[in-house]
Amino acid sequence: MLREPITISRTLVQEIIKREDAEFRKRTPRTHELHERAKASLPLGVTSSFQAVPPYPLFISKGEGSHIWDYDGNEYVDFHLGFGSLLVGHCHPLLVEALREQLGLGSLYSLPCADSVFMAEEMVRRFAPIQQVRFSNSGTEATMDALRLARAHTKRDKVVKIEGAYHGHHDVVMMSTKPSKEAAGAEDSPNTVPASQGIPADVKGNVIIAPYNDAEALDRILSAHEGEVAAVIMEAVLMNVGIMLPKDGYLQQMREVTRKHDVLLVFDEVKTGVTVAPGGITELYPVEPDLICLAKSIGGGMPIGAFGGRQDIMDHISTGEVLHLGTFNGNPMSMRAGLVTLTQVLTPEAHATANNLSKQLADGYLGVIEEFDMPMHISQIGAKGCAMFRHARAYNYRAWWDIDMEVSYAYWLFLANRGILFPPGLDDQWTISVQHTQNDVDHHLHVFQQFVTELSR
Ligand SMILES: Cc1ncc(COP(=O)(O)O)c(C=O)c1O
Repeated sequence: MLREPITISRTLVQEIIKREDAEFRKRTPRTHELHERAKASLPLGVTSSFQAVPPYPLFISKGEGSHIWDYDGNEYVDFHLGFGSLLVGHCHPLLVEALREQLGLGSLYSLPCADSVFMAEEMVRRFAPIQQVRFSNSGTEATMDALRLARAHTKRDKVVKIEGAYHGHHDVVMMSTKPSKEAAGAEDSPNTVPASQGIPADVKGNVIIAPYNDAEALDRILSAHEGEVAAVIMEAVLMNVGIMLPKDGYLQQMREVTRKHDVLLVFDEVKTGVTVAPGGITELYPVEPDLICLAKSIGGGMPIGAFGGRQDIMDHISTGEVLHLGTFNGNPMSMRAGLVTLTQVLTPEAHATANNLSKQLADGYLGVIEEFDMPMHISQIGAKGCAMFRHARAYNYRAWWDIDMEVSYAYWLFLANRGILFPPGLDDQWTISVQHTQNDVDHHLHVFQQFVTELSR
């Protein structure tokens, strides 16, 4: 039987934060100064509000392999990797060479190039649900275009979105990404809560929120809105709130329920894409979505987005009924990077090495957690994993409210000051690239053990 977890002293956590905050500031004076300057010309001093985290965002001057250097010259092992966009790591030699060559041949044609064909063929080969694919420049564009296509295919306007999931920053999906307890409503029929001001009021009426890991609730919701819903969009593994894994059979049930109500199932694989397995989620779970959205790591660090799926749905683009547009779509730099990434860098062996290191890291964390009876758990899938400061495993967004954000912050600072960089925000994941080494993982585990040792005093 598992022992009861220890109770972490609040005074101790606050002491650690105070000390580590002072240390962070001592190590990064130039970054601090640059951020102060940035605030005059950039709201919050950053170019994406996700980057504006306390005490202030780290400014980065270079990355190489699995390491990254801040503006003050401090070196970190990078487990952030552009929110999981760099399964290839930084400056992979094959990509540096290929992109140098492409830059010499032109960076933008806004006309088709051969690599877009080869890249599309590779996407069809890798991702089981994809019969045809279109490229864009971000995950946001991928989910926006996939949902437009779903609405055109079904001739319906409404979309179901899972509470706590993130699908980018266009209007329809900026709902209930992290709603407050006060606003969220009932657990099995949550309210639709806009995540930002500036979204037209009538958009909200077309978005219905469903809880994660509850296919019965979805069945009830779709029955109540029979014939109105175009698609259910979901992250098969919820990665906006740490990592929440699907319960056994849940994804298959989602497929059955959506089929029963004649609603399209769209998997947002922007984060899971190549990182959980070479062919993404559908390689791990026996489920067939109608459309999938990809971005991040398929592009080897260049801006990219993609959506694809069933031929008869993609046909609405071929007939001209649905317009999918973009000056930078399929640009030669992103296509070259994506193609080299998928065909030369992310070999089966490279995937296996990254996944093994990630598993090793997770096992190492588990050992420490058990040794010290820490009130936390580990969630890991493929090259991604995270520590969640909540004793019981979390299965839906509502559990995120119980995560100990104070300890999570102490952990982020403690690790950063010792050369282990996690994504900004306290509920993202580690990503292990194909360039990470055993030393990187050993160092990470050593620092985590130090943190826990101090926390359990
Ligand atoms: C699951 C998921 N979908 C979509 C997006 C949006 O991607 P982008 O930031 O490239 O627009 C993200 C970004 O983090 C994401 O995690």
